Amino acid sequence: MQTQHHLRALAPYLVLLTLSLQGRAMAEDNTPQRPLQTTMHAFFLALTGVFPWSLDAQQFQAPEHRPQIHAALQSLAQHAEHLHTHGQGLPQSFGFLRRSLAKSAHDAAERYAAGQYPQARFLLQGLTENCFACHARLPNLQPFALGQRFLAETNVAPLSIPQRFKLEVATRQFDTALTTCEALLRATDSSAADIWLTGVFEDYLKIIIRVRNDFPRALTALTQFLERPDVPAVLRDQLRSWMQALTELQSHGPVEQALSRARTLIETGQHRNRFPADHQGFVHFVVASSLVHRWLATQPTDTSALAEAYYLLGIAETYISRTSWLSETPFFLETAIRLDPTSAVAAKAYDVLNMYLLTEFTGSHGTRVPSDVQEHLETLRRLRGGS
Ligand code: HEC
Repeated sequence: MQTQHHLRALAPYLVLLTLSLQGRAMAEDNTPQRPLQTTMHAFFLALTGVFPWSLDAQQFQAPEHRPQIHAALQSLAQHAEHLHTHGQGLPQSFGFLRRSLAKSAHDAAERYAAGQYPQARFLLQGLTENCFACHARLPNLQPFALGQRFLAETNVAPLSIPQRFKLEVATRQFDTALTTCEALLRATDSSAADIWLTGVFEDYLKIIIRVRNDFPRALTALTQFLERPDVPAVLRDQLRSWMQALTELQSHGPVEQALSRARTLIETGQHRNRFPADHQGFVHFVVASSLVHRWLATQPTDTSALAEAYYLLGIAETYISRTSWLSETPFFLETAIRLDPTSAVAAKAYDVLNMYLLTEFTGSHGTRVPSDVQEHLETLRRLRGGS
C-alpha cells in the first residue's frame, strides 16, 4: 500500500493545465469530493484540452502546441495509471476498461513524446471508446455542466457523427448524444443502409437502455426511422424484432432478482437469434447486462452469485460488443472462474473462454494461439482442477 499513499498524495498536484475550463472546474458547485470524481475531472480536462487540436493533423503537431499537448497526455496517462492501480471504488467489473484506458493513454503519451504524431493522434481519438464503454454502463446520476460548455464551445463539425457521439458520452452529455443519434437516423444525406453501417443502432440502444432506461424514447426513434422509404429489408426485420423486445420488456425493472432475470433474458435472446451472427436478441442481451451491472454496483458479497454475474456478463458481451479489440468477454469470464474456481459456473465459463479465445486468434482451427494466451488458459484450467 506504500505506492498507494505515494500516488494519492501526488494526484492532486499532477500537471494542471492552463485552460479556461480549469478555472471553471474549480468554481463549480460540484467540486469533486471523491477520488473517482477527481480522476474523472482530470480525464475531462486533459482530454478536452487536446481533443480539439487532434481534429487537425497539423495543429496536433504544431510546435507551439506541443508543450501543452504533451502535458495533457502525460496527465491523462498518470491519472489513468492511478485509476488502474487503485480502482477508486469502481466495481471489479470495470477492471478491463481501467487497464485498457491506462494502456492507451500511456501509449499515446509515449508516441507523442517520440514525435510519432499521427499514431498519438489516432490513439487519443480512440481513447474515447474507453470513456464510452464505462459511461455507457450505469445510470447517469448527476449532470456534468462543464461537459456541456465544452461541447458548446468546440467546433465538432469535423467529427463524423459516430465520433461526435463518442465524445458526447465521454463528456457525459447523454441527452445530447441521444439527440445526435436521432438526428443521424433522420439524415437525408445518408442512406438508411449507410446509417446502419455506422453501428449507431447498437450504441444508441446501449445508452438509452443502460444509462437512461427510456424504452419509449427508443421506440419512437426506431418507429420514425422505419418510416423512411429506403430501409433495407434485413434491417427492417431486425428493427421490428428489437421494437417488439422493447415493447415487451418496457423497462429493465428493479434490481431485485437481477441475476435470475438476466439469466432468463439471455436465454430468450439466444432463442431469438436464429443463427449465431443474428442480432435479434440484442435488446435482451443489453437489458441483461444492464441488470447485472446495476446489481454489481450494489456491492454484493455472495461469491457464487458474483461468479454467476460475471459469467452472465461475459456471455452477454459476446453478443453486444462492437469491436473485438475492446471486448470485455475474456475478462468477465476469467473473473467468474477466479471467483469460484471449482463451481459449475466456472466450468461453463472456462469452456466458453477457451473456445472464444481459440476462435478469436485463429478463425476456427485453434492452430495459432500465442503461447502467452495458451499459458494463461492453462493457469485457469489448473485453478479449476484445484478441487
Ligand atoms: C473504468 C471506467 C471509466 C473510464 C475508462 C472513464 N470513466 Fe468517467 N466515469 C466513470 C464512472 C463510473 C463515472 C460516474 C461516477 C459517479 O457518478 O459516481 C464517471 C464520471 C465521469 C465524469 C463526471 C464527473 C462528475 O463530477 O460528475 C466525467 C467528466 C468523466 N467521467 C470523464 C471521463 C473521460 C473524459 C474519460 C475518458 C478519458 C472517462 N471518464 C473514462 C467511469 C469511467
